[in-house]
Amino acid sequence: MNVEIYADYTALSERAAEILAELVQQKPNAVLGLPTGSTPEGFYAAVVRMGLSLSQVRSFNLDEYVGLPRTHDQSYYTFMDQHFYQHVDIPLENRYILDGTRPDPEEECRRYEEAIAAAGGMDLVILGIGLNGHIGFNEPGAAWDARTRKVALAERTRQANARHFERPELVPEHALTMGIGTILEAKRVLVLASGEAKAAIVREMVKGVPGVGVPATALQRHPQVTVLLDKSAAALLSR
Ligand code: PGA
Repeated sequence: MNVEIYADYTALSERAAEILAELVQQKPNAVLGLPTGSTPEGFYAAVVRMGLSLSQVRSFNLDEYVGLPRTHDQSYYTFMDQHFYQHVDIPLENRYILDGTRPDPEEECRRYEEAIAAAGGMDLVILGIGLNGHIGFNEPGAAWDARTRKVALAERTRQANARHFERPELVPEHALTMGIGTILEAKRVLVLASGEAKAAIVREMVKGVPGVGVPATALQRHPQVTVLLDKSAAALLSR
């Protein structure tokens, strides 16, 4: 893993945007895997500020809650629209987000995998990391060869995300997520983490013994991972 440490959140967000810009310059029709969460907000804002043209890009979101209609203010569809898609020129038909309201989630997940494969696989997947080490919504215990599927959210994840909902019990119990196997097939992986709350899990991801208990340790297997941290998220790395 290649770890880069920046002075603050803005600097790491701008670096992530720069990495995307370099990729799109080399490969205008790049295929991306994109995250949601608080961490990537600065990255999306930096890409928008750059005015980067993404007119040939295809993008696949990592995950979506089960049961929230796309119009729900906490759906990842709404997140992507507000933070990114409204402001960039990725054609509508090139934006893929799992639909968590489909009556047959298995079929939805299978079609998603087929669409990623038909696009030629992902060139770059950008990830946040959960406090419990999840990537996408692959919670502790998830198999490393898992594909896109329906999963139960860990209680810790539901608690962490409760801040976005009116009441904690409104956080969905399930999600659809790309699998760790799907993520590991991307040519390059970028992980973003910021703030002291993430310092311990960042250390686990980078230096811990790999195991299914910490999904992000699967990334130690991937040959092209860049971890972008601010100083607080990197605070425990030298110990
Ligand atoms: P956060 O979420 O960026 O809101 O901390 C990260 C994640 O759960 O992947």
